[in-house]
Amino acid sequence: MNVFKSAYCRIFQTVFKIALPLLPYKNPKISDNIGDIAGVIKANGKNKPLIVTDKMIYELGLCASLEESLKAEGIDFRVYSDVVANPTTDNVDEALKIYKENACDCLVAFGGGSPMDCAKGVGALVARPKKTLNDLGGILKVKKKIPLLIAVPTTAGTGSETTLACVIVDSKTRHKYAINDFPLIPKYAVLDEEVTMTLPQKVVSTTGMDALTHAIEAYIGRSGNKSTRRDALEAIELIFNNIEASYFDKTREARKNMLIASHKAGRAFSKAYVGYVHAVAHSLGGKYDTPHGLANAVILPTVLEEYGKAAHKKLKKIAVYCGLADKKTKAAEAAATVISKIKELNAKFGIPEKFDFIKREDIKGLAAYADKEANPLYPVPKLWNAKKLEKIYLKVGGYAD
Ligand SMILES: [Fe+2]
Repeated sequence: MNVFKSAYCRIFQTVFKIALPLLPYKNPKISDNIGDIAGVIKANGKNKPLIVTDKMIYELGLCASLEESLKAEGIDFRVYSDVVANPTTDNVDEALKIYKENACDCLVAFGGGSPMDCAKGVGALVARPKKTLNDLGGILKVKKKIPLLIAVPTTAGTGSETTLACVIVDSKTRHKYAINDFPLIPKYAVLDEEVTMTLPQKVVSTTGMDALTHAIEAYIGRSGNKSTRRDALEAIELIFNNIEASYFDKTREARKNMLIASHKAGRAFSKAYVGYVHAVAHSLGGKYDTPHGLANAVILPTVLEEYGKAAHKKLKKIAVYCGLADKKTKAAEAAATVISKIKELNAKFGIPEKFDFIKREDIKGLAAYADKEANPLYPVPKLWNAKKLEKIYLKVGGYAD
């Protein structure tokens, strides 16, 4: 990246870092029991939620206990269960139609990142009825309060229950973009491990690696503060210590710890941002529908290696905190232990080292999207332009070592 653009990026990021304590972040109120939702709805003076979820979750019966508890409290509700991975503008329009036609007055997002993003999109359009989602893309454009939003994460990964981001794919152009604004932070988050107990292993691993990516990108970025760094480190340690038990043994304790880790990672990156791993992953999700966590898992080691020296010091701190290295270990060596640990986990979960579906002729366009998403917003350890980002796609796509 040339010196003028990189100076612009760093100044932009510094302004955001300085402004951080002044911004209206509000962590959601936490509950650990789905049975509490009916009471929360009533306490907020609402009586007709729209539950936004996806087909797999609905067919697995994960919403049943929520539906029963709502019925028991005499709360009428509607369900939209067609959210796809990488939710689209069509999904939001369909859910919004049900919301309006049935005079719903609040939202329960039930699922992984996709239902939560879809519910946030519905909320944004209820708050700003004259706007399209595209109009609201970018930063701080929603501006108005959205309906009561209760988030129930059923995967321990996205951290969407604590973030101000809503990522949507335009159904026509397949362009993936984010709407970021404070009113999109859910008012309540329900961290009940019961709903994660029947998750398929593939979802446990990929969403867990997504949470790990949030925590690592937030930690090694340059906009963190004491509290985001603490959240990120605690999340990374919890993930390293629990993700295998969550995947192989399915213990309740490991699943609970992964939910907590994902939440902490979400808190960290919502204030300290992510980095190029996410920018590249979003472009692959938009173009090829690659599940977000899977994309991150594959891209993360490559990007960390490419940051090189710029990330060594912070990666060493992660390694020391997690007991992978000690203070005397050289920074490069300690950083390598973290990257090896990620590769090792990927291998155990059957996550590939490369993707074989990235078309060479798509790379230029993909890199341009990633460049646009990341620069100047993401406070990455090292700045890359679109040309440099192409190298990441060549590596991840198996065209280069
Ligand atoms: Fe993510």
